[in-house]
Amino acid sequence: MLSPNVDTIRLFLHVLAASVWVGGQIVLGGLVPRLRAEHPDSLKTAANAFARVAWPAFALTMVTGIWNILDVSISDTTTEYQVTLFVHVLLAVATAMFAAIHSLGRSKLALALGGALGLLTGLGAMFIGLLLRTAG
Ligand code: HEM
Repeated sequence: MLSPNVDTIRLFLHVLAASVWVGGQIVLGGLVPRLRAEHPDSLKTAANAFARVAWPAFALTMVTGIWNILDVSISDTTTEYQVTLFVHVLLAVATAMFAAIHSLGRSKLALALGGALGLLTGLGAMFIGLLLRTAG
């Protein structure tokens, strides 16, 4: 069997944290309609409990993402790779921004748009991250 090395740990932590952030939003999206219909009082508790797990996970994607960048010799990469990396980081910043709008916003529009765009940009960051690894 192959042995793990530091790169394995770095990518494991990055992908684990990214999965909690993006996957958690998908799971919560599935739970919310049922909770709203059957236990509307529990919505706030569920949202707060999710935020306590999701934000530390997002912080870990940032820390491991910076570790990724330090590990990749940017000057040895192609312009295509650098543009793709820029889009990846931009989408990562966008998903956090929309999630913050979703949790701090008071209007229905802020809740709906923040939630939907937070998930879409998170999925985009995930896809483009995998593109960095698998393309080129
Ligand atoms: C929600 C936010 C994020 C998601 C969903 C995400 C997801 C991913 C995924 C799935 C990969 C592919 C890992 C693999 O090789 O299998 C990746 C790679 C990468 N990510 Fe992220 N990421 C996020 C945030 C960030 C941030 C904030 C940074 C930089 C500050 C970053 C920098 C990188 C770099 C440089 C790679 C390439 C690593 C390599 O090929 O060695 N990511 N990301």
